[in-house]
Amino acid sequence: MTQTIAITGATGQLGRLAIAALKTRAPGARLVALVRDPAKAADLGIEARAFDYTDPASLQAPLNGIDVLVLISSNDFNDRAGQHRNVIAAAKAAGVGRIVYTSILKGDRSPMILAQDHAATEAALAASGMVATLLRNGWYTENYTGNLAGALAAGAIVGVNAEGPVAPATRADFAEAIAVAASDAAHAGKIYELAGDEAFTMADFAAEVSRQAGKVVPYAPMPQGAYADLLKSFGLPEGFALILADSDARAGEGALFDDSRTLSSLIGRPTTPLSVAVKAALA
Ligand SMILES: NC(=O)c1ccc[n+]([C@@H]2O[C@H](COP(=O)([O-])OP(=O)(O)OC[C@H]3O[C@@H](n4cnc5c(N)ncnc54)[C@H](OP(=O)(O)O)[C@@H]3O)[C@@H](O)[C@H]2O)c1
Repeated sequence: MTQTIAITGATGQLGRLAIAALKTRAPGARLVALVRDPAKAADLGIEARAFDYTDPASLQAPLNGIDVLVLISSNDFNDRAGQHRNVIAAAKAAGVGRIVYTSILKGDRSPMILAQDHAATEAALAASGMVATLLRNGWYTENYTGNLAGALAAGAIVGVNAEGPVAPATRADFAEAIAVAASDAAHAGKIYELAGDEAFTMADFAAEVSRQAGKVVPYAPMPQGAYADLLKSFGLPEGFALILADSDARAGEGALFDDSRTLSSLIGRPTTPLSVAVKAALA
């Protein structure tokens, strides 16, 4: 019987990559994009259904007939856990067979403020009694490589994390894990701590950027409060700036480090090396 897999956040960056990976990994599956704006999903080449986490009454009908629901965590921090609970309740009512949720590394014990919504969502999934697969995603490499032009212009890479190693992976690596987990029922009930194969410090990262850019771009760690102020000066809302500064401080204490290589074993290939990600970002 054809399996129907629905993906929320399908017009987001991770969601788009997950759909591309699902088309390769699960060619026999029927894919459904659950999106706020179906017009934005036209280029995905799959059925798109309107779906807004903040509108509970509208969530159940689009979930009818869905075997596996990939719930990509919201990027809206206004009661994010509540948004996720809305989706879980609707999925249960619609008879969805399994939920694959993109959580955060060490989701049940991470000290990051950012992790609180994920812990609440994991708890809601457990309380729902639904079959779930937890993909506890570490940091995206793109969080570091995404603004290299700015760092090169400023002459330094800045952050709070002074010396703690991090093990990020690219969105494409995490997207492939979604495709693997969603397309095979063997992953039901599993919890995966997902991180990149390669751990590095911010000084290592700055050295790699310097090597490829052909000029020295040092890493300059700064106090958590000063970093939050800097992010605010770039236009980030205060609450988000505080959360990001907290995340980087906790990363310095190991919150984003994992050396289990679970991600590469799940996707059957090494994760994207830092050198490759930096090269792509500088291209
Ligand atoms: N691990 C990390 O380093 C990291 C970094 C950043 C974010 N994240 C988390 O991972 C998620 C996916 O990452 P990403 O890079 O793909 O983020 P993204 O590009 O910002 O995509 C987020 C998606 O969430 C959707 N969304 C937001 N509010 C919604 C609502 N009320 N109802 C339905 N959909 C809603 C957005 O819909 P639209 O397309 O309509 O805007 C978008 O498709 C993020 O949302 C965030 O929770 C993780």
